[in-house]
Amino acid sequence: MRMYDIIYKKRQGHELSKEEIDFAIGGFVSGDVPDYQMSALAMAICFNGMSSRETFYLTDAMMRSGDVVDLSRFDGLCVDKHSTGGVGDKTTLIIAPIVACLGARVAKMSGRGLGFTGGTVDKLESLGSYRSSLSSEEFLSQVEKIGIAVTGQSGNLVPADKKLYALRDVTATVDSIPLIASSIMSKKLASGAHAIVLDVKCGSGAFMKNEADATLLAEAMIDIGKQFGRRVCALITDMSVPLGHFVGNSLEVYEAIQVLSGKGEARLTELCVALASNMISMVLGLSIDEATERVLDAISSGKALDKMREWICAQGGDVSLIDSPTALLGAKFKHEFRASKSGYISKIDAEGVGIASMLLGAGRAKKDDEIDHFAGIELRANLGDSVCENDVIAILYASSEELFDGAVSKLDEVIEISPAVPQKSELIKKIVF
Ligand code: URA
Repeated sequence: MRMYDIIYKKRQGHELSKEEIDFAIGGFVSGDVPDYQMSALAMAICFNGMSSRETFYLTDAMMRSGDVVDLSRFDGLCVDKHSTGGVGDKTTLIIAPIVACLGARVAKMSGRGLGFTGGTVDKLESLGSYRSSLSSEEFLSQVEKIGIAVTGQSGNLVPADKKLYALRDVTATVDSIPLIASSIMSKKLASGAHAIVLDVKCGSGAFMKNEADATLLAEAMIDIGKQFGRRVCALITDMSVPLGHFVGNSLEVYEAIQVLSGKGEARLTELCVALASNMISMVLGLSIDEATERVLDAISSGKALDKMREWICAQGGDVSLIDSPTALLGAKFKHEFRASKSGYISKIDAEGVGIASMLLGAGRAKKDDEIDHFAGIELRANLGDSVCENDVIAILYASSEELFDGAVSKLDEVIEISPAVPQKSELIKKIVF
């Protein structure tokens, strides 16, 4: 078999076989297939797409390129959730203890973020000495004991994706539905969950800018999951404005604690309740109404917050921060961002707010950059709010006052105030099964 022929076949729009896809991925991981041939294949996939069968073979080849976690001892109760990314998305921190306190198991491997803010692991590391690199024995025994563990991704989880994603990133081949779907699903499947709820974002702060493309991506991922015998569903949700009021690592942990204390921002709470309800409905076999009732009770009774304490304590984090969360808003410098005129907030562009928070130190531009856990943005106004000139609409948090100028100019560009009340987009656009 020759890589040249495989590239040519895909370039001509034909369907690749399992053997051809295994050859390309196996050779790429071992180094026998050079980057330039893999980039050519990725580009041919971008132009010509892949059938459902090809996408399944690609996912399977990538999943088998490294470790595959065996969660069979948990009797089908392990449920995972994946969000395609967005600004202010701290839903994992909220949902994981909710579903774990209701009897599902959360054995989650999360990444660090490259981009606007950190990933879930970066956020958790705001909690003092939270241990984010558990050995696989520690990880599984914690799931067994308390129903929840969240650790960083093991070095050998889907190495094919690590290598391919880095190549796609610099060859303009990220935004292809089969490549995104196989990349995400290979990692979810290798992590071993029995059921998966996908939160596929659309809007300015997301990969998929509109609902139609987000639906196609969701359908492709569900199709892969089903071919692997997993239960999968997807919520298509809005990411044109940031999720919740806080963007930045420790700030997002603060907001997660607020939601679990029953004091969360409405849209963020609505999304977490919907995701958690779908998760437990799938693994506990409940109707969605019964599942929603249990989720709401887990929050109002304090059981979910207790589970968060138990989880953070088991992983060595500072539990006192859960009881006194304002310490998580402890950046050295704060700056008030004020309305330049009176009117209605007509735009809070998610991507722009993400960039502003990165300029304050909350995200990474390069893989090895340090993040500042306390940096970020607190939005004091929502889309559609009426404001008067000079009202405070956001608070910026940073470790140095010099960082404020860049972030303020960005926010000036991306927060708009108009004389007319704007239209708001629905948070949950649809659920795809
Ligand atoms: N997230 C991933 O993990 N992979 C992609 O290809 C895109 C987003």
